[in-house]
Order: sequence, then C-alpha cells, then structure tokens
Amino acid sequence: MRPLVFAANWKMHIGPPEAREYLRAFFAAGEIPHERAVWFFPPAVSLEAVAQNVAGHRNVVAGAQDIYWEAKGAFTGAISAPLAAQAGGRMTLIGHSERRHVFGETDEQTGKKLAAALAANLQPVLCVGETLAQREAGETMAVVTRQLMAAFAGHSGNRHVNIAYEPVWAIGTGRNATPKDAAEVHRAIRGWLKGMLRTVVPFVILYGGSVNLKNAAELLAEPELDGVLVGGASLDPRGWAQLVRTAVT
Ligand code: 13P
Repeated sequence: MRPLVFAANWKMHIGPPEAREYLRAFFAAGEIPHERAVWFFPPAVSLEAVAQNVAGHRNVVAGAQDIYWEAKGAFTGAISAPLAAQAGGRMTLIGHSERRHVFGETDEQTGKKLAAALAANLQPVLCVGETLAQREAGETMAVVTRQLMAAFAGHSGNRHVNIAYEPVWAIGTGRNATPKDAAEVHRAIRGWLKGMLRTVVPFVILYGGSVNLKNAAELLAEPELDGVLVGGASLDPRGWAQLVRTAVT
C-alpha cells in the first residue's frame, strides 16, 4: 500500500471543547491504518487542544491554518510560526485559497510565510490553484506556476515543502476535479519542483476541493495524488474516520 496523507482543514469550525469531543469520537474508530498520516488544521484557538489530544497517536499531527511572517510584535489578531509551534503545531497551511481570495493575500506574502514557517520548523503545506475563469481561459498552469515561483522565491530547495493543489472552483462547491484533471496538474507541479530546486526532496502533493466519502477512493486511485486536503467532509469525526480508511486500489 502506498503512503497516503489525509489532511483535515476545519476552517472556522470546532472550538477547543468541541475539538476534544471530536478527537474522542475519531480515535474511538481505532488507530490510523499503517502507511497513512492524518494532519489536522483546526482554527488557532483549538490548536493546543488538538495537539494535546493527538499526542501519542502514530502519524497524527496538528497544524495551523495560517501564520503571519513576523515572529512577534504588534500584529493584532495574527499568530506567528513560533506561537503556532508553542501551541503544539508541527505544520501550517500557507496561501489557502480563502486567505488569497477572501483576505486578499498576495503571492509575495505567501513567500514570506513559507520562509517563516521553515525558519520555525513548521512543515508547510503550500496551497495553489486556479479560479474557474482562469481554468476556462486555459491559464491553469500559468497561475499555478506563478504561485509556486512566488512562494519559493527565497527557498533554497533543501527543505521539505508539501503542496496542496486546490482548484478554487472545486472548494466547497460539491464539484471536484476529475482524477485525470488533478493528476495532470500534480504532474506539472512535480515537474516544476524538480526543475526549479537544486536538491530534490520527496514532495507530497495533495488534492483538495469537494473530496468526500463518495469520491475519495476514485481520486486516491490516481497515483499522482499523495493524499487529500478536505474541508467540509472532515467536520464530522465519524465520517472523517471512515474517509481515512478509504480502500484504495
Ligand atoms: P471542501 O472539502 O469543503 O471543498 O474544502 C476544501 C478545502 O479548501 C480544504 O482546504
């Protein structure tokens, strides 16, 4: 069985008491199958509760949904990579589509955040993806490449960075990319990373966008996908426990 990652992005859901309750229900389904990793990205207020409650469970870690690039200072409402690490976070999402499109985060800012995450030893998951208009205009790879170039601008290439390909039109819409469409972009991203970076490190490339219990098996059967990044379908602990046990052929 090839290794697979199941990443849960809770977005603005599940506070600390709810997180403890969620994890009790999730782990009641048993330990995580061998060769599978589960990454939880709760809202910042719940990060410590999640980190504490996944401790001791093999291949399960907690991470932040976003960080600010400065380590500390007068930045009301923001959390830094060292603060996320103090709360028990081991990873962080960077440049999620909602950060880019709801909060106006720029490509350049994702680069600063990527560097800040690596400096604090938080493993980044860089999110990239095109809008529907960009896809229809045939600009998918140009957009994704631009996002990668900006994010990796100051990156030496010798540190592990995970990528999540999340087409904006597939997020929260119930319309997932086909395995073939996702694979095509994953392949191009892998090619870009190999060509661009001096040291080749194994990259984990996840697909995200309307992944659920019905389509996970078909998507994960595509070998270009190293796993999935899931929003809505990760919010119910029993459903999520079932999803991470998806049989993949
Ligand atoms: P949905 O799974 O709700 O479409 O969200 C995807 C996503 O944005 C995960 O980061």
